[in-house]
Amino acid sequence: MKKHVKGILLLAAVMMFSIVASACGNTNGSGGGGGSVNVGIVLPTKDEPRWVQDEQRFKDALSGTKYNTEILFSQGSSAKEKENVETLLNKGIKVLIICPQDGDAAAAAVEEAKKDGVTVISYDRLITNTDAVDYYVTFDSLAVGAAQAQYLVDHAKGNGQPLYLYAGAATDNNAFLFFQGAWEVLQPKIADGTFKIANSTEAEKLKDTKDLSRDQMSSIIGQVTTNWDPNEAKNKAQTHLTAAAADMKGDVAILAPNDGTARSIADVFASDSAVTSYVITGQDAEKASIQYIIDNKQSMTVFKDVRTLVKDAMGMAVEVLDGKTPETTGSYNNGSVDVKAKQTDVIVVDKDNVKKELIDSDYYKADEFTGL
Ligand code: BGC
Repeated sequence: MKKHVKGILLLAAVMMFSIVASACGNTNGSGGGGGSVNVGIVLPTKDEPRWVQDEQRFKDALSGTKYNTEILFSQGSSAKEKENVETLLNKGIKVLIICPQDGDAAAAAVEEAKKDGVTVISYDRLITNTDAVDYYVTFDSLAVGAAQAQYLVDHAKGNGQPLYLYAGAATDNNAFLFFQGAWEVLQPKIADGTFKIANSTEAEKLKDTKDLSRDQMSSIIGQVTTNWDPNEAKNKAQTHLTAAAADMKGDVAILAPNDGTARSIADVFASDSAVTSYVITGQDAEKASIQYIIDNKQSMTVFKDVRTLVKDAMGMAVEVLDGKTPETTGSYNNGSVDVKAKQTDVIVVDKDNVKKELIDSDYYKADEFTGL
């Protein structure tokens, strides 16, 4: 073939591909508004497997729906998040499903949406201190923390066992719920001497208080936050182990708030020869953590079936679009109003039930793991 003919064909192929690619994008469905978007979905970041998982589950749930949807990521930035909301408003959305990067900062974005008459559904994380949130779909986050703590209690070894505490980002309301749920279970076991706090003077000061105020929790979370960042978690764990006296090593218990941070904290503890054994929690049932559990490197995770959350959020959106009132099961106060909520239960997973809960339920495929 002559060179310039080849060139023209190649150009034509590239053009065809880009037309098809832009037509597919993240937009699903057809009809329902002549090319405009009916439901806008904004997720916090692609950098954490948890939210990529949610994107995939949304895509799975959306194929075949009659409404158009579009998913945008905020990449850890509240400014980008607001820009995403504005982009979607310009495309004519009627419902916004949004998981905020920062619960307080997202208020401005959803207030704009409300002004446009859009129904706002807070997804997984509550948007705080604004009345511009109509609904909240969530897992039982207090139960997540309680399950993590209960696992540590059930696997406690003897008396005075060193307990390392870690928490999520203070900008995420969930971090407080997880910590509160965990603290209510751990505190009596700290008070009775089963555990000894190894890495937080603030927690140590509050060891006789079961019901912590938001400010008291803030003071602890301020010391042991990971900001949901595995690197920050790793650095903190290293600092804590460097500072720890010999009696704060040996057999230890570690409250890690989610899987991403759990894996990096676990790696740090595993590489300290003075740590004889560790029990460490997690949440999200991320694939990498399921492999860690199979390999005895992470003890447990809390499985939050994202398929259910997506189904609830989309179900609500469709009801709103169809002019109906979505069903809710309770409410959450966001500092300004009681937001009607639909809540989903969580499941504790460790090596004993990982196959039953995650493979037999078709959440993951067995061949995605080794040594199952
Ligand atoms: C979510 C967790 C997630 C964490 C970090 C929380 O709000 O509920 O599932 O691991 O954020 O992204």
